[in-house]
Amino acid sequence: MKFYLTTAIDYVNGSPHLGHAYEKVLTDVIARFRRQMGDQVHFLTGVDEHGQKVQASARQRGIPPLQFCDEVSAEFRSLLPLLNISNDDFIRTTEERHQRVVRQVLQQLFDKGEIYRAEYKGFYSTRQEQFLQEKDRLPDGSWPELFGEVTEIAEANYFFKLRQYQDWLVEFLMKNENFIFPRNRQTQVLEFLKEPLNDLCISRPRERLEWGIPLPFDDGYVTYVWFDALLNYYSAVADRPGLWPATYHVIGKDILVPPHAVYWPIMLHAAGLPLPRGILAHGWWLQRGAKMSKSTGNVLNPLDFVTEFGADAFRYFLMREMNVGQDSDFTREQFLVRYNSELANNLGNLVNRTLNMTTRFAGGVLPAAGPAGDLERSLQELWVKTRDDFIPLCEGFQFHTALERAMVFLTETNAYIEQRAPWKLGKSTAAADQDLLRTALATMAEALRLAAALIQHVTPSSSVKINEVLGYSPGPVWRDELAWGGKLNGARVAASLVLFPRPQPPPKG
Ligand code: ME8
Ligand code: MG
Repeated sequence: MKFYLTTAIDYVNGSPHLGHAYEKVLTDVIARFRRQMGDQVHFLTGVDEHGQKVQASARQRGIPPLQFCDEVSAEFRSLLPLLNISNDDFIRTTEERHQRVVRQVLQQLFDKGEIYRAEYKGFYSTRQEQFLQEKDRLPDGSWPELFGEVTEIAEANYFFKLRQYQDWLVEFLMKNENFIFPRNRQTQVLEFLKEPLNDLCISRPRERLEWGIPLPFDDGYVTYVWFDALLNYYSAVADRPGLWPATYHVIGKDILVPPHAVYWPIMLHAAGLPLPRGILAHGWWLQRGAKMSKSTGNVLNPLDFVTEFGADAFRYFLMREMNVGQDSDFTREQFLVRYNSELANNLGNLVNRTLNMTTRFAGGVLPAAGPAGDLERSLQELWVKTRDDFIPLCEGFQFHTALERAMVFLTETNAYIEQRAPWKLGKSTAAADQDLLRTALATMAEALRLAAALIQHVTPSSSVKINEVLGYSPGPVWRDELAWGGKLNGARVAASLVLFPRPQPPPKG
């Protein structure tokens, strides 16, 4: 099945932070998972380069906006390989392929009479690049923190007839209950749609905003940045037959209502284009309860964690800690807890023990298992249950629970080793003990191989390394790799591998 997956495109008004990294990792984990499930995945990410916010940041640096975008976009792009992101395409909204499609869609809507000119009077939030309404105010009359500085504007503009599609959208959402994940967000959209919609202002006069795509029917204006940005999902594949519509748009909850859940479906519908199958709205990484954001500056640099702990540990933490859709506080303490107990002690330790004992007791060559005893049987049963739960959990984006199950399996595998105590069996020359020793070595290696295969969409490099040190090359069909038994017989293992080294204590003083 085709699976076209997108992330939000990031504003390039500042450097990428942990929130941006999370969204890329989450989308990548879904992309890798779908690929191994046999889907034909197309994975798009990119940057949002137009608008007031970017123009203002370029001015502050005193350089032309395109030069500014070139620099910051390169920074966003260079983060992707460091996070092990397997995107198939990267789009910048300043690219010709994008601008052409935006202008085509605008002209088409204009010709159909979906766009008209009128006076705009109201408020604008540059931080959110959003036109605001009276109802957006707090009860005390002030604007919510999220909007940053709000300015009043009064100018002639072009409007897209949003309101006439309101009933259609409500009906669409009622019929497609699972359009938005998680479900409670869909309820929130329907709640929002209980109030009458205003038509959408889709232009800014050039004298106020230079940095945007000129309207094809009036070049005294540039396109409102959201109308431009949303179209990236379509413009990137417009000349690639069979890819549109998208399967999932992965975005943060702050940009669900109204841009993705209201403007976007209506824009597509009005343009006669099919709608995406779904929208996944994830939550926020917080710092002491406040959303991490470029505008607030309370951000963590993802590269610090990648440099210190490796991309896989970082990816693992993000997926293990966050229940997709909810918010989560990011602390270094919690990162270290999971790193030490789950990656270093649990997974890393199993790798060490397997390589070590195979080297010590079997000359580095994995033996075939003898008949399974009770301990082996119960570990194998746990494996089957773990695997069979894990896959549907991932299909439903419950990665944190899926990984928790994988960890339970690893914990039980380590407990199995304690119970079998191969170091004791190795001292005995009795034939029965030697049989058990071979069974123990084969069992721990097999459990390790399976666990690595199970979580490989989250920890791709570590899983590859584990296969390498086990002397094993996996076959092309992922599900076939998840069957217990026999694949490692006779494999020659490496002497050692330190996968998740103990972090150095912080320097004193
Ligand atoms: O909104 N935790 O760009 P952006 C989790 N250009 N996710 C976060 C986050 C946090 N603390 N902070 C930001 C834009 N994000 C538009 C999108 S799409 C056609 C245009 C997420 O740079 C945020 O929710 O402000 C969004 O999905 C993405 O990062 C880009 O945010
Ligand atoms: Mg934002």
